[in-house]
Amino acid sequence: MAKTKTTYYCQNCGAQSSKWTGQCHSCKAWNTIAEEVISTAPVKDITSSQQETRPTKAQRIQEIDVQNETRIDTTNKEFNRVLGGGLVPGSVILLGGEPGIGKSTLLLQIALSSPLKVLYTSGEESGRQIKMRAERIDNQKADCYILTETNTQKIGQQLEDLQPDLVIVDSIQTLHSNRLDSAAGTVSQIRECAAELIQYAKQTHTPMILVGHITKEGQLAGPKLLEHMVDTVLQFEGDRNYVYRILRGLKNRFGNTSELGIYEMQSNGLKEVNNPSELLLSNHEHPLSGIAISATVEGQRPLMIEIQALVSSAVYGTPQRSTTGFNAKRLNMLLAVLEKKAGFKLGAKDVFLNITGGIQVDDPAIDLAVVMAVLSSSIDLPISTKSCFAAEVGLAGEIRPVQRINERISEAEKLGFSKIYISEFATISIKNPKIAILKFSKVEDLVRACFKTN
Ligand code: TYD
Ligand code: MG
Repeated sequence: MAKTKTTYYCQNCGAQSSKWTGQCHSCKAWNTIAEEVISTAPVKDITSSQQETRPTKAQRIQEIDVQNETRIDTTNKEFNRVLGGGLVPGSVILLGGEPGIGKSTLLLQIALSSPLKVLYTSGEESGRQIKMRAERIDNQKADCYILTETNTQKIGQQLEDLQPDLVIVDSIQTLHSNRLDSAAGTVSQIRECAAELIQYAKQTHTPMILVGHITKEGQLAGPKLLEHMVDTVLQFEGDRNYVYRILRGLKNRFGNTSELGIYEMQSNGLKEVNNPSELLLSNHEHPLSGIAISATVEGQRPLMIEIQALVSSAVYGTPQRSTTGFNAKRLNMLLAVLEKKAGFKLGAKDVFLNITGGIQVDDPAIDLAVVMAVLSSSIDLPISTKSCFAAEVGLAGEIRPVQRINERISEAEKLGFSKIYISEFATISIKNPKIAILKFSKVEDLVRACFKTN
């Protein structure tokens, strides 16, 4: 007989405590502690016929064979890229993202387009709803099985019968295991269900993709432990009002996390964007004030991004600072630098900053373009559409070099830009560039040079 006992879990951070308290001792959130019944029955496989295949003997590191470490092609190039070349057998991937961003669409598309035998289990939608979506995507194949089930033991039976090559679970928060009495979506259920699925994936070498919900704060819902348990954590992000979606790796045991996948949401599903640089630029015939183009690098790919700024006199007492896709604190810092070093009085102005395409950029090289867009709007003088920028701006108004400058220059050159403004201290190894490389060490010098020649 399985013994049962109860413990208290914080539904916010997953911390465990032996008694109920009003405030979580770990994350300090109020009223988040809930009692959950846990069973102390020994961990059993969700499928009955599995044999332990992992060696239990310690091996010398040189003897471990990596030759047959194959990658499974999902036929979705952007997805493969973010994973580091494809799915690793037995790996478990957690895909997080806001509701409606396109997680189910992306995974259904992978299920329908790959040559693998895929089991798509959904606890969120009915078979009919999934079929309707599949018809929209219009990429039907025979070897995709749909299961609308939330009980892990029943899913286990299906896994045993079907022996799929890839398992997709939408979503981990809807699952529940017989072995626990608590409701689906609670910390202990999420942990238990994930443990059961991971055990199956490791024993049968079947890759598995789990969908995870995101909380209001943008964190993956459920215990942080879930992120530790899986091999790879991917995040699907973007602004729902825009068509672009970005797939980012937050953790990857089998590759690096700097890779980025870019998709465009269309009426028939997500389309892979293979040359994102050109797409993110809106081509204006005549230069407009308030626009500057930055040569950024996201993952391994250079990306030209358009920054738009609007500076106007504050209508209310306190000036507004609003940004989309850029850190607001960083904007405030750059504005302070401009005020102090370049003598622009922006303290009493409203400043709005927008990165086109609704994407989020963390690359520090975008600083210089932000500064230039703000100044261009402030003095109402446009910057040539053939100029771009790539440098970080420091607190003293110094223009600092950024990594991978050569790739940025090559991309700008390829896209037909005639000038790129970079740091004086950048080391360039490009021979005979067709693009003019203009080097500056201080923001004030650049401002003078740029707005005089334009
Ligand atoms: P969905 O995949 O259900 O998101 P999630 O699983 O992350 O909650 O998101 C679907 C959204 O995408 C929905 O708002 C409609 C839109 N969409 C399209 O624009 N085109 C399509 O072909 C599909 C299937 C969905
Ligand atoms: Mg969904």
